[in-house]
Amino acid sequence: MRKKHFLLSVVIVTAVAFVAAAVVYAACPEIIKGIDASAYKKHKKGTVVFHHKKHEETYAKQYPDLYKNGCGECHHDKDNKPLTNLTCDDKVQKCIDCHKIPGERPKGKKAPKLNKKERLAYHAEALHYNCKDCHKKFNKKYKPKKAPTTCSKCHPKKKKK
Ligand code: HEC
Ligand code: HEC
Ligand code: HEC
Ligand code: HEC
Repeated sequence: MRKKHFLLSVVIVTAVAFVAAAVVYAACPEIIKGIDASAYKKHKKGTVVFHHKKHEETYAKQYPDLYKNGCGECHHDKDNKPLTNLTCDDKVQKCIDCHKIPGERPKGKKAPKLNKKERLAYHAEALHYNCKDCHKKFNKKYKPKKAPTTCSKCHPKKKKK
């Protein structure tokens, strides 16, 4: 009888430990190196290293005025409605699922003039709007602190081969 109880408690303790571990490890990504990089056959620019955890935890706490929509500052649904109550256990759609064309919009003299909505079809444009808009707001408000807004601050220079 005692032995049975013991075994049962071992089973329960183990089960609890597994659940706890799952909760801890179904975490948000710490760092994302190259957002949707697999969609790119070729990268023009150096791969961006994005500190997801710092952005979603540290900065969100430090600068709540920039994070009125929480996770929804960057994550939204198919109607562009901010996913304010997202959790790290949720399945998150990739930006490229909706902002489908890899790269920036066509540029140069012959390129068509696009409005913002048309530009947003391009993956890199959507990312640039998202990242830079917040960084610009930050830089204005929290001078002399500076979040990156220039190419090489986000895209490290590629090594020449
Ligand atoms: C500053 C922008 C930003 C904020 C704020 C943010 N995220 Fe993200 N998150 C991203 C980007 C960019 C990706 C990569 C999307 C992709 O791969 O297309 C991502 C990916 C994810 C993923 C998927 C990781 C994977 O491996 O597939 C999860 C889960 C996630 N975020 C949860 C959250 C939660 C929960 C919050 C709020 C607590 C949050 N994010 C806040 C930008 C952000
Ligand atoms: C489920 C589809 C979907 C996903 C996933 C998605 N978007 Fe969007 N996004 C939209 C739609 C729809 C709009 C509205 C523009 C339009 O009508 O084309 C939009 C608009 C935007 C805008 C303009 C916001 C504004 O209000 O001016 C930015 C910036 C943006 N998305 C970035 C991202 C980033 C970064 C990710 C990944 C973290 C992402 N999107 C994931 C569908 C999506
Ligand atoms: C909602 C606001 C917000 C958005 C959106 C945002 N950032 Fe930031 N980011 C910040 C803030 C705030 C800082 C600087 C904090 C400081 O200096 O104390 C920062 C700093 C950085 C830095 C330098 C420090 C570090 O953490 O590595 C990089 C690189 C960066 N962001 C990349 C990105 C990229 C890439 C995106 C888009 C996928 C993005 N950020 C979107 C708020 C934002
Ligand atoms: C705040 C950070 C940030 C800044 C500043 C920035 N980018 Fe990006 N850019 C990104 C992110 C994030 C992506 C998505 C791909 C990735 O993660 O590497 C991207 C994608 C791209 C891509 C498509 C991928 C590739 O390598 O071909 C190009 C081209 C690009 N950026 C050019 C530029 C240029 C040119 C500038 C300066 C005018 C610039 N970017 C400034 C964050 C930034």
